Amino acid sequence: MRAFYAAVTCLFLLFFFASSAMPVVEEYMPPPMTEGMFPCSNCHATMEVNRKKRVLKEEHTDIKLHHAETMRWCLDCHDAKNRDKLRLYNGDLIDFTESYRLCGECHGNVYKDWKAGLHGKRVGYFAGPGKRTYYLCANCHNPHDPKFKPLKPEPPPYRPEENHDGISR
Ligand code: HEC
Ligand code: HEC
Ligand code: HEC
Ligand code: HEC
Repeated sequence: MRAFYAAVTCLFLLFFFASSAMPVVEEYMPPPMTEGMFPCSNCHATMEVNRKKRVLKEEHTDIKLHHAETMRWCLDCHDAKNRDKLRLYNGDLIDFTESYRLCGECHGNVYKDWKAGLHGKRVGYFAGPGKRTYYLCANCHNPHDPKFKPLKPEPPPYRPEENHDGISR
């Protein structure tokens, strides 16, 4: 019986030390940048800053701001002087790898849920020590147009005797 208790104690201690040796590691997916876009300073370092709210014609023509756009413009999120950084409300600059901090400034509840693994997605150990990898907000939401579009429904299934357009002839 004593040997049994000793064995249980040993096992317990083993688990205890194994788990305390395994630290909590939080990693993030890389930002989903278009190839050739980063570093932004490749172009912007030598360009004049144009603060005017306008339709962009020479570059970034695919970006249409649809995200509280009546209240703001590109340079509220992108730093005017250092285009390789994002800008928080208080003026602090952060890397694109930390864009969730910017989102969290206005979407505090979703941010809290995301940190806790309730919103969005993360893979790895759920609770306790271990490694977990978070998907960035920007991996799922386009920061310039974040609202999900309603999906186009798939065409209805067809029977083999029908043509592919679903109409029997
Ligand atoms: C290939 C060159 C090029 C790269 C790379 C580039 N930009 Fe630009 N960007 C431009 C040009 C040119 C304009 C002006 C477009 C216009 O006025 O029609 C512009 C305009 C902008 C503006 C509007 C404000 C302003 O200063 O005119 C923002 C914000 C911006 N870029 C952000 C970025 C960010 C962020 C990156 C990197 C993720 C980036 N750009 C990478 C060429 C580039
Ligand atoms: C709500 C904040 C916000 C606003 C406003 C905003 N951006 Fe961005 N932008 C971001 C974030 C965050 C990313 C990083 C996405 C990622 O991780 O790939 C980004 C990425 C970019 C990129 C790189 C895109 C790519 O495909 O690689 C360019 C260029 C850019 N922004 C230009 C602009 C321009 C021009 C405007 C104004 C018309 C603008 N942004 C407005 C937050 C913003
Ligand atoms: C300065 C405040 C601010 C920041 C920073 C900000 N947002 Fe928003 N966001 C808003 C507001 C206001 C709305 C609602 C108006 C709209 O949709 O245009 C909104 C709408 C949204 C929506 C759509 C909500 C719905 O009802 O479907 C999503 C998703 C979203 N934001 C994600 C993000 C992400 C991701 C980031 C970081 C890249 C971010 N936001 C940064 C203010 C902000
Ligand atoms: C793995 C993908 C994923 C990630 C990561 C993610 N989201 Fe979402 N988000 C979604 C989906 C899916 C919805 C639901 C869309 C719907 O129902 O229209 C959503 C909805 C939202 C909404 C609108 C609904 C609400 O609850 O207010 C906001 C705002 C939002 N997300 C912000 C964020 C922010 C901020 C982050 C990062 C801190 C983030 N999301 C990370 C997928 C994601």
